[in-house]
Amino acid sequence: MEGVFVSDMIEPIRKRAKFSNRVYVLDTTLRDGEQTPGVCFTLDEKVEIARKLDAIGVDVIEAGFPVNSEDEINTIKMIKGLGLRAKICGLARCVTGDIDACLKADVDRAHIFIATSDIHLKYKLRMDEAQALKQAVETADYVKAHGLECEFSCEDATRTPIERLIKFYTSVESHGADMHNVPDTVGVMEPEAMQALIGVLCSRLKKPVSMHCHNDFGMAVANTLAGIKAGASQMHVTVNGLGERAGNASLEQAVTALEAMYGVKTGINLSMLKDASKLVERASMIRLTPNYPIVGDNAFAHEAGIHVHGVLAKAESYEPLTPEMVGQKRRIVMGKHTGKHAVSNFIKEKYNLSNEQITEVVEKVRCHTINKKKITEDDVTTIVESVLGSMSEEDRLVRLNEILVVTGNKITPTASVQLTANDARKVAAGVGTGPVDALSKAIQSALGEEIKLLNYKLEAISGGTDSLCTVEVEVEDNDGRTASGMAVGGDIVMVSVNAVMESINRIYAKRRRE
Ligand code: KIV
Ligand code: ZN
Repeated sequence: MEGVFVSDMIEPIRKRAKFSNRVYVLDTTLRDGEQTPGVCFTLDEKVEIARKLDAIGVDVIEAGFPVNSEDEINTIKMIKGLGLRAKICGLARCVTGDIDACLKADVDRAHIFIATSDIHLKYKLRMDEAQALKQAVETADYVKAHGLECEFSCEDATRTPIERLIKFYTSVESHGADMHNVPDTVGVMEPEAMQALIGVLCSRLKKPVSMHCHNDFGMAVANTLAGIKAGASQMHVTVNGLGERAGNASLEQAVTALEAMYGVKTGINLSMLKDASKLVERASMIRLTPNYPIVGDNAFAHEAGIHVHGVLAKAESYEPLTPEMVGQKRRIVMGKHTGKHAVSNFIKEKYNLSNEQITEVVEKVRCHTINKKKITEDDVTTIVESVLGSMSEEDRLVRLNEILVVTGNKITPTASVQLTANDARKVAAGVGTGPVDALSKAIQSALGEEIKLLNYKLEAISGGTDSLCTVEVEVEDNDGRTASGMAVGGDIVMVSVNAVMESINRIYAKRRRE
């Protein structure tokens, strides 16, 4: 596959594996994913996520657990009504009431499950094996009699004796099940054991086998792939690996590994993965850790120094995939450990600046990273622009020497400033609706004139509370002269004041020229 640079050691493994020609993807972000503690999608979010899953090429969307509530039924029905290409599936216990709810929700497939491990039978279901089996086959009959596709899961399959598993799956298959799903409900498997288990099941069953792995030991993706290597042809995944406890196998990781490492087709448009991940991150309000594989913010970020040198010379020296393949962008990051030399080399390579300007940029980058903040290539570009656009020292007729701002709840934001204007020292105070407004009033009061703020634009460059921000302002004096100013830094108030001061100085410079 183009743009993929993985280990040659995989090749013999790929040849030995019993991959099916195409692996089908059942996404359960809207069902198991929504069972993530604290996650609750709104109707609109569910619809948006379903559309996105369909757009990226998911084959089946497990849209919910219909028997949960009338709302759940209506939401699933609405998703079904979108007319997506993906099939819509609803979860159901092995009881007729749950299937009736699936029918009301108008799903294409009922995913029926019953627990089969000793611990679940005894303490949760309070049933013996024969009762559970009876309930499973009767439910399969009921599903098929109502014209739905039937996917059957032995809940806690990986802690169920293998002979019992075979008995359940073969029996339900003879009652019409179309797909056998194997849940590693509490994530207790490891890849070799999973490969062996799925190998046995595939050899004993006629209908396709599907994987459903939880991540309690961090092995959900590895176990899913192990099952696929043994012949399973469907996998249950969730966007961003959402799901009960430590989550389910991550869609992005499982799909990318299958496609890139083994060349197995999944029908997923990899270049939309970042997009889907962002949507689910926003809707679930579960932020991805930056080092999350494939779609995390650092997955294609390189800290300046040896790595950046390598990446700029030949990207694959430190990238196993091209970022574009998965909808990502490469980011060059300057961190606390990036030496001045590396920063100035990086700037010299990318921008045409004088030595003085390089020193100024390096100093600004250093000031920022010293507070443990990282700085991206975009941030550096902004700093460079601010240095290029900044005024010479002689042009600065107004200089801010001291400022003090007080703000908080139950207090009117108040600021005092001490500045020099045309070599005269001035002191003044002001109050405002916020700290920036108070400072701007104090500055105007010190200057003894009104300078109106026509525009104020604040932008965080790299996200996060410690990111750099840029402020662009436009001001107008009483005679109609206008000027703009821009500043960049990590402290919103200081950046705003610096931008205002820059624009005021431009007004003063205009006056002097006149
Ligand atoms: O993890 C699990 O066992 C499940 C079942 C409902 C299939 O999600
Ligand atoms: Zn699950």
